[in-house]
Amino acid sequence: MTKLYINPNRKKGHINPEIQGHFSEHLGRCIYEGLYVGENSDIPNVNGMRTDVVEALKEMRIPVLRWPGGCFADEYHWKDGIGKKEKRKKMINTHWGGVVEDNSFGTHEFMELCRQLGCKSYINGNMGSGTVREMSEWIEYMTLDGVSPLADLRKENGQEKPWKVDYFGVGNENWGCGGNMLPEYYANEYRRYQTYLRNYSKDHSIFKIACGPNSGDYEWTDIVMKTCFKNCGPNHGFMNGLSLHYYTVPGPWENKGSATDFDLESYYLTLKKTLFMEELISRHTAIMDKYDKDHEVGLIVDEWGNWFDVEPGTNPGFLYQQNTIRDALVAGINLNIFNKHCDRVKMANIAQIANVLQSVVLTEGEKMVKTPTYHVFNMYKYHQDAELVESSVETELVGVEKDNMVPNLTESVSLDKDGVLNITLTNLSAEKAYDIRGVLVDTNCKSVQAKILSGKINDHNTFDDPMRVKTEEFSDINLAGGILEFTIPSSSVMLIRVQTV
Ligand code: AHR
Repeated sequence: MTKLYINPNRKKGHINPEIQGHFSEHLGRCIYEGLYVGENSDIPNVNGMRTDVVEALKEMRIPVLRWPGGCFADEYHWKDGIGKKEKRKKMINTHWGGVVEDNSFGTHEFMELCRQLGCKSYINGNMGSGTVREMSEWIEYMTLDGVSPLADLRKENGQEKPWKVDYFGVGNENWGCGGNMLPEYYANEYRRYQTYLRNYSKDHSIFKIACGPNSGDYEWTDIVMKTCFKNCGPNHGFMNGLSLHYYTVPGPWENKGSATDFDLESYYLTLKKTLFMEELISRHTAIMDKYDKDHEVGLIVDEWGNWFDVEPGTNPGFLYQQNTIRDALVAGINLNIFNKHCDRVKMANIAQIANVLQSVVLTEGEKMVKTPTYHVFNMYKYHQDAELVESSVETELVGVEKDNMVPNLTESVSLDKDGVLNITLTNLSAEKAYDIRGVLVDTNCKSVQAKILSGKINDHNTFDDPMRVKTEEFSDINLAGGILEFTIPSSSVMLIRVQTV
């Protein structure tokens, strides 16, 4: 039997709900069609936001949404997206497919979407091709509750009261598409730009996020932390967060591999590359610790997920990909890693929410499917706002190639406000089930419930077969005297909820 150890008496940190955040970009069919269809669409909508998608995202308790990009953010000029829609500028989306962007989804629409979702807002500003003044005025337009030309303009455009901007990113990937800057240059510019992001509300401070490294660029982290971290308590320094981008890409850029048609070698390689997230977070955290030993600055993994070749026959600039049980495992592994690092990781945003990379929903006309990744977020939602507790699981290596073996199991466990222990487990083995004996140290348990998502590694949902992959109740689980016993099937993600007394 494989041993799972859980000690609810040892609390390891608070799991910020935003660890399960999402990312929306003006890319392909993410915003237009995926989230926003316009008020005059035949597709059911409220103020242009499609109802089916909003309901699905609310069900999985979306905590925060990032917008407008991505690479798009550093070419986005917010004034193009306000005012009467027919007068808004039309432009070419140079990054993504060269299509016409009509700016019908702008600041007001994004805030309306967050309102409908009941989630926090994370706006990414334009440092690459925008000015300090433009960025500063955007904050003023959105958040000033007084008299100023920009607050007045917001009111003229129909929004009397200011909005709350929860998170604000100063540029995106400024080492690449956001201006090809060197870390010293970016860090100095960051200090300047952030100076003019005023907190107009007495009750709320905007959480300011500096552009962080591309994957394992540890020098970037070191220089930005050294230059921008100012140790004077939360909300008084120059920065509250540092971003990190890391995608799981199984092959070279020209041939990343199909999202659905893959073999066991590619499956295990994908999982192995996903597990690299653990090393990345540990090493970046160690560098941040040099300057910020009290963990005032959050690591914000605001782009992560699988990046495969686009679906055959679709626009290569739209990055539309399908989503299988393999994606479910990648989501489960990453979310377990983020939980375990919740003392440093304060937010993470999977890319992208609809119709792009590792999306939770896919749409086609009026149809929508929930992907396997959706079902993982829907199971993991119980970790939001809970306390991480000490846990570990015995592992063995599985795989088909000597160099690409992976541990068979990953886990994380939290205790929520109602005394429920939430245990999430992934079984990475495509072939083998494991008998698990879970020991809950010094815990009085009342009842147990479980859910499972499992299938063949290539299984996925289509518009003709939307429920092929879905969570099922899992009743074959015993709980007695603080011992849990069950068998986790191959390639599966599980949620076990134990009510303690
Ligand atoms: O998610 C697609 C792109 O990947 C984003 O726009 C960019 O930030 C990253 O390179």
